[in-house]
Amino acid sequence: MAGVPGVMEALELLYDSQPFNPGPWVAHCLYTGEAARRIAAVCGMDEERAHTLGLLHDIGRRFGAHDLRHGYDGYRFLLSRGWPDAAKICLTHCNVAHSPAPAGRRWDCTMAEMADIHRFFSQTSYDEWDDLIALCDGLAGADGFLVLEKRLIDVALRRGISPELPREWKRRLELYDLFSRRAGQPVYALLPGIAENTLGFDPKDEANG
Ligand SMILES: [Fe+2]
Repeated sequence: MAGVPGVMEALELLYDSQPFNPGPWVAHCLYTGEAARRIAAVCGMDEERAHTLGLLHDIGRRFGAHDLRHGYDGYRFLLSRGWPDAAKICLTHCNVAHSPAPAGRRWDCTMAEMADIHRFFSQTSYDEWDDLIALCDGLAGADGFLVLEKRLIDVALRRGISPELPREWKRRLELYDLFSRRAGQPVYALLPGIAENTLGFDPKDEANG
């Protein structure tokens, strides 16, 4: 596949990265990749490419426990490996609403790096791959799939809120509707265990109870 590694190579890279910064991010990437693969399969998109892009979107976390600079670190890292399409996702999933000049304290980068990031966003158009991974990032916890609202609140409680956040949430909710229409069914129906993982119990047991 042009611009991205194969799934096995992506998995190897992910597991090799874990010791540099141990944490739940690797499990989150595995679920993001799996969600992307499942959604791609019913939307006429390349499943393997979707899986790989989901696996690698947070690869910049191998460089440490940073905020949005993980997107820039991942972008630079994957570019240096010769995978520009996978590199692009590392940055676009950090700016889901596609602000031309993202700012704020969450961007823990130097001024020179921010100039590079602004150049990137001013020259980049988003495509279905950026949209798919932005959605899947919002559906994947470290212990399984979650409904979007629960995952977005969880991230906001851990990372704090910013003035840009409502636009980002709105865009992710739009992407949910967009891919559900394209799939011909609710995206949640494609993700096994999402109800149990979100609610903390199996609603079918309760109903039969
Ligand atoms: Fe992520």
